Amino acid sequence: MTKIETDVLIIGTGPAGSATAALLSSYGISNMAVNRYHWLANTPRAHITNQRCMEVLRDIGHEVEAEAYLHGAHQDLMGENVFCESLAGEEIGRMKSWGKHPLSRAEHQLASPSHMIDLPQTFMEPILFGAACRRGTQARMSTEYLHHEQDESGVTATCLDRLSGEKITIRCKYLIGADGGNSKVAELEGLPFEGEMGVGGSMNILFRADLSKYVAHRPSVLYWVMQPGADVGGIGMGLVRMVRPWNEWLIVWGYDINEPAPEVDEAFATEVARQLVGDPELEIELLSANTWTVNNMYATHMQKGRVFIMGDAAHRHPPSNGLGSNTSIQDGFNLAWKLAMVIKGQAGEGLLESYSQERAPVAKQIVTRANQSIGEFGPIFEALGMDGGVDHDKIRANMDARCKAGPDAEAQRKALREAIAFKKYEFDAHGVEMNQRYTSSATQTDGQPEPDFERDCELHYAPTTWPGARLPHAWVFDANGAQHSTLDLCGRGQFTLLTGVGGQAWADAAAQMDTPIRCHVIGPRQAFVDHTGDWARLSEISDTGAILVRPDHHVAWRCDKLAADPKAELTRVLKKVLSL
Ligand code: FDA
Repeated sequence: MTKIETDVLIIGTGPAGSATAALLSSYGISNMAVNRYHWLANTPRAHITNQRCMEVLRDIGHEVEAEAYLHGAHQDLMGENVFCESLAGEEIGRMKSWGKHPLSRAEHQLASPSHMIDLPQTFMEPILFGAACRRGTQARMSTEYLHHEQDESGVTATCLDRLSGEKITIRCKYLIGADGGNSKVAELEGLPFEGEMGVGGSMNILFRADLSKYVAHRPSVLYWVMQPGADVGGIGMGLVRMVRPWNEWLIVWGYDINEPAPEVDEAFATEVARQLVGDPELEIELLSANTWTVNNMYATHMQKGRVFIMGDAAHRHPPSNGLGSNTSIQDGFNLAWKLAMVIKGQAGEGLLESYSQERAPVAKQIVTRANQSIGEFGPIFEALGMDGGVDHDKIRANMDARCKAGPDAEAQRKALREAIAFKKYEFDAHGVEMNQRYTSSATQTDGQPEPDFERDCELHYAPTTWPGARLPHAWVFDANGAQHSTLDLCGRGQFTLLTGVGGQAWADAAAQMDTPIRCHVIGPRQAFVDHTGDWARLSEISDTGAILVRPDHHVAWRCDKLAADPKAELTRVLKKVLSL
């Protein structure tokens, strides 16, 4: 039996596994990623790529972020979220989504140096995987993980080389199960879950057809189709999703989970496509079709000893809100630096416990949100007077009724407008994407209470430097006038201390720590200048104070003003944060 050694073994090269591999390799940690298939994602499942996810790509490398922008459809093409009876048929309503509304776009631009894009998983995975392999990840494709055993000093995993049929043993210090919604790693470790799998049935039909004439004037990634059966199974309504503008598409259509999954052959797929597009003559080039189940399940703990789970292995939910791959990549951003610091001897093993403390609540939040979003299509059906939605004549009669004069029809139109606007919680939930605040041993309080959200925390991002929150973004300027995000001053595997004029003693203290910490003094005639005053408004500390930022951009600790003994204070905080 072949024996291999590595520091971290990652099962799976999906968004979670590939991102983690890229990060670990960037941090100089030896790692291996295995995938049971010969290549990466063969269907474009995930696509909505939110700002926080783009920030992770940016941290891995500006060239990685640039590659994503190169292949992604621009945010301007994403957001005319249409509800219609078919693409060719009548439009029922529309809501500007994914930061398309000017007010929402302003919030996006203020929140982050990165913008949202639509990047199908078939593009995202090669970008991350490529970065990982270029930087040192040893990748083994056609290698199926079978089982593992943990002991005091490491983990021994047994895999099957599917090319030779030979079993291989991989010895590692830590093992990561990034092996998707049917995670064998999670199952074999017996990690605890709440919720239910298979609460609805859905199918994907991937095809090529030029649909420009139906969509180019109302560019969107999602076209929601109200048809008989649209509320059965699935993700709330029939969906025609843009994969590539405007000639590659993915139809998502539900089926009753209590019935056997339908066989989606070419004839069936063509029939569904014609029906949702509303063109009985439509010719499609069918690329693939498959069925899948809607899940509602999350791990309440994501670590057992030296084994961790991340991505869909830990959170299993429908694609509503577009959170799956985004969250999976962010799981990796949370865990990779912790593993790196522990392996390098810069942190105690206790630091690793903060991974589950911080990410399990996020798993619960996004699974709950995504499933709730399915139910929130209900008011749209109700506003159209539909209960069950399977009767075509009834749909038509109700659609006609809303066009009449008189108080009933006016009330119906109002209800419909409100029901569509309420879908902001699925299609423009900036707060869900950006507001993650951690409470764990890897964040240290400065004694201040957590600031309240002044606006709806699911819809709006609220910047704060409260320990546990993501560092707010502001543009600051170098001596050449080039702008840099405060996030760009941090990250890349290292802790960062941000201070202002009068805080030089913090910088001196940081330089004396065993833990490598970069320090930036922001202010007039310093390396970075806050010309606009945005950072001063967002930092929530005085000029002599300091903010300690973790490698994943989250604030570890802050201090409002210069401490009497900055070195002692920093030593005390690092000891706690890093479990030293
Ligand atoms: P993923 O399932 O992608 O990868 C698992 C990996 O593990 C694969 O490489 C697999 O081969 C490997 N593996 C499994 N078992 C193994 C074994 N025993 N041995 C070796 N390898 C093994 N998300 C989002 O953020 N935005 C969006 O817009 C959408 N949209 C969307 C639409 C549709 C229709 C679907 C079905 C899903 C989405 N998603 C989404 C969700 C997204 O696709 C999903 O959350 C991510 O793929 C999860 O990434 P992971 O890396 O965790 O698992």
